[in-house]
Amino acid sequence: MDFNILPERSSDAALIDPLLDRAFGTDRKSRTVYRLREGILPLPELCFSAVQADGTLLASLRFWPILIDAFPAILLGPLAVEPEQQGRGIGKALVRHGLNEASRLGHKLCVVVGDPSYYRPYGFAPATPYGLVLPGPVDPPRFQVLELKPGVLENLRGLIRRAENHAVQPGVSCSA
Ligand SMILES: CC(C)(COP(=O)(O)OP(=O)(O)OC[C@H]1O[C@@H](n2cnc3c(N)ncnc32)[C@H](O)[C@@H]1OP(=O)(O)O)[C@@H](O)C(=O)NCCC(=O)NCCS
Repeated sequence: MDFNILPERSSDAALIDPLLDRAFGTDRKSRTVYRLREGILPLPELCFSAVQADGTLLASLRFWPILIDAFPAILLGPLAVEPEQQGRGIGKALVRHGLNEASRLGHKLCVVVGDPSYYRPYGFAPATPYGLVLPGPVDPPRFQVLELKPGVLENLRGLIRRAENHAVQPGVSCSA
């Protein structure tokens, strides 16, 4: 493995928005998941960068806080690997590291909107059959959920909401 996974460095912040534009396209912020992120800070302890030995940023993974009714959960992503670095296992290493850290820190439930064939190996399953609802349109198979604490989905259903208790305060910058 010729890359390392680090907590996101302060110098990465300005590079991540352009990386996300390269990986997802510049219309990415029209997607439903951005309604859950806009104006809300990512969880700083769950922001990771993959970097090569000389410090160059190769990929980024951040998690956002969300609420399911009143239950605190986390939203995986955005996850983006520099286009010329894709297919080398960087995304996989970031997702594994991020989910391990989230579990270690006591988070109980993780939601993602993404390619089911990519996220199924980590244990993600379709979220709609559990009665979870996103606040906007989504291709149902892409809306997935993973219990980090077994059993938490048993009594949980409802609308996924913005975690307003993590809202950006005036004067604090946030490059989501
Ligand atoms: C999708 C993405 C994050 C994957 O990262 P990556 O570093 O290229 O992927 P990895 O090399 O870690 O691949 C891990 C596994 O996923 C598979 N895979 C990679 N891209 C995939 C995709 N788009 N769909 C399904 N499976 C994929 C790989 O074949 C590999 O399988 P294996 O473990 O059986 O060998 C990256 O290609 C990317 O940034 N794409 C553009 C943005 C995007 O779509 N982000 C994902 C949000 S859902």
